Amino acid sequence: MPEASQTNHPPATNLAGSELRAALATCRSALIGIALFSGLINLLGLTGSLFMLEVYDRVLPSRSVPTLVGLAVITALLFTFQGILELIRGRMLVRIGNQIDWRLSERVYDLVVRLPLRTRGSGDGLQPIRDLDTIRSVLSGSGPAALFDLPWLPFYLAICFAFHPLIGCTALGGALLLVILTLLTDRLSRRSVLKASNLAATRNRMADASRRNAEVLVSMGMSARLLVRWRQLGVAYREQQKTASDISGGFGVTGRILRMMLQSAVLGVGAYLVIHQEASGGIIIASSILTGRALAPVDLAIGNWKNFIAARQSWQRLEKLLSLLPAPAARLPMPAPTRTLLVEKVSVTAPESEKLLVADVNFFLKAGSALGIVGASGSGKSSLVRALVGAWLPSRGVVRLDGASLDQWPAEALGNHIGYLPQDVELFEGSIADNIARFANEPSMDSILAAANAAGIHHLIVSLPDGYNTQIGEQGTLLSAGQKQRLALARTLYGDPFLIVLDEPNSNLDAEGEEALTRAILGVRARGGIVVIVAHRSNALAAVDFVMSMQNGRQHAFGPKEEVLSMAARRDPALPGPFKVVPQTATST
Ligand SMILES: Nc1ncnc2c1ncn2[C@@H]1O[C@H](COP(=O)(O)OP(=O)(O)OP(=O)(O)O)[C@@H](O)[C@H]1O
Ligand SMILES: [Mg+2]
Repeated sequence: MPEASQTNHPPATNLAGSELRAALATCRSALIGIALFSGLINLLGLTGSLFMLEVYDRVLPSRSVPTLVGLAVITALLFTFQGILELIRGRMLVRIGNQIDWRLSERVYDLVVRLPLRTRGSGDGLQPIRDLDTIRSVLSGSGPAALFDLPWLPFYLAICFAFHPLIGCTALGGALLLVILTLLTDRLSRRSVLKASNLAATRNRMADASRRNAEVLVSMGMSARLLVRWRQLGVAYREQQKTASDISGGFGVTGRILRMMLQSAVLGVGAYLVIHQEASGGIIIASSILTGRALAPVDLAIGNWKNFIAARQSWQRLEKLLSLLPAPAARLPMPAPTRTLLVEKVSVTAPESEKLLVADVNFFLKAGSALGIVGASGSGKSSLVRALVGAWLPSRGVVRLDGASLDQWPAEALGNHIGYLPQDVELFEGSIADNIARFANEPSMDSILAAANAAGIHHLIVSLPDGYNTQIGEQGTLLSAGQKQRLALARTLYGDPFLIVLDEPNSNLDAEGEEALTRAILGVRARGGIVVIVAHRSNALAAVDFVMSMQNGRQHAFGPKEEVLSMAARRDPALPGPFKVVPQTATST
């Protein structure tokens, strides 16, 4: 593929761009079968014409009823056979669509999950799933059968020529007109189909955001205003849809009428030939049927063109994304990390962005240490910890556990060694136990209890009617913000991971919650784990022994807690509290 070299990831493109084609290739024998079936179907497509030819040129002159009956029986059998073949071919196509969906659906789910972490994310994020659906449904529809019939067009035309060159020329002219029509349809509707699908994605994204922010919309009376935007999007979407359908529909009708005209034209030419005694009467009808039959797939293809374009665009989008995010390579098992966390000159940019959010951060922690990261809002703390847990890839530098960079671990295994509490806690629909146990297939109740105890929420959970089996609604709607945060803390601690990263875990905690947090950090240190905690409030730093302060994405200071905090205090004595968050404007760089 020549375009491959134009992307940022040429090797990945070559390797994974074929992923879709590889899925299709697994259906190769079925596709060959369909091609053979199509051959038979197209041969059988001659039945009607041959019957007419025989009736006109043999039965009518001889006035033989038995011949007619015999011919009729054979013809009926052939038609039945053709019907059965077409039925099987249709079913095979449906199964090929399903097979491709089956082979790729897990990969596409993985894509949807990792996409926001690796790309800037266009569309509504669920586009890959819809793209796969589109490909499947178009493959399973009537369109592909038409594509298999199209190569037989020359065969029919050749027979027309065999009847008489003039008939052949008429049919050929008609076929050319129809093909030009098909190309025009493609050219003219491609852009509106693409625009319509982009607008549909924007609309979905907006509906989803509104649904999630229902409280804000209703309480601040924003729903009416957003409705206006919704309406505008809807108008634009329908406009593009309409254009695409108009073009495709218009050409569809033109094609059909043209085909009917052509059939009559062939009849006319045949009649002219009969008048000049250059052909038999049977040929008039036979060639007319033949022409109709030859051009039927063109007709069907034009009618399906909108779907073909949509499927092709879906295919290209998916292929691009699959190559952007190749399936993780299988990695050898690694021993669990137990000793160190090394952050080597790590710089971080947001996915697919050039702007450095974090630059050249260096530090080293031994098992049993806890690091507090402080800094003003927007100083890059969350961006840094995303790289620490492998959610974002560092644009430069490397994060190592026991000397091995994160990408050396198999993804699942690495997840068991890391506990991450993001700044915006989101829980999953399911039971409390499921959420704590990270939806493990065979969760260990002991580990769940240990994690809940360490996070100090055991008593809260057992006070709920169903205890650990309580179903929390979507995004944990059943719980308060503080409860959610503590539940997420338990999820972080589940299974005693080596590296625990907490991004402002105390933002919603009360005094008791903060005490539990401190105890949890001390517990992790005592068992030889490493904790990295981002904090705005000093209470959360009670259990750490190292502190790093960040400013404008840079590591401003790193060292033992007292040293760094007293240094910060000296810089800005006006700030209250046991540690000072250095404001970005207050110090020179
Ligand atoms: N996904 C993103 N894409 C682009 N820029 C981002 C993204 N996330 C964060 N940023 C930018 O990175 C900078 C640092 O953000 P970050 O969330 O790391 O700050 P922070 O120190 O955690 O702040 P806070 O204390 O408010 O949580 C900000 O200027 C922000 O605009
Ligand atoms: Mg943050």
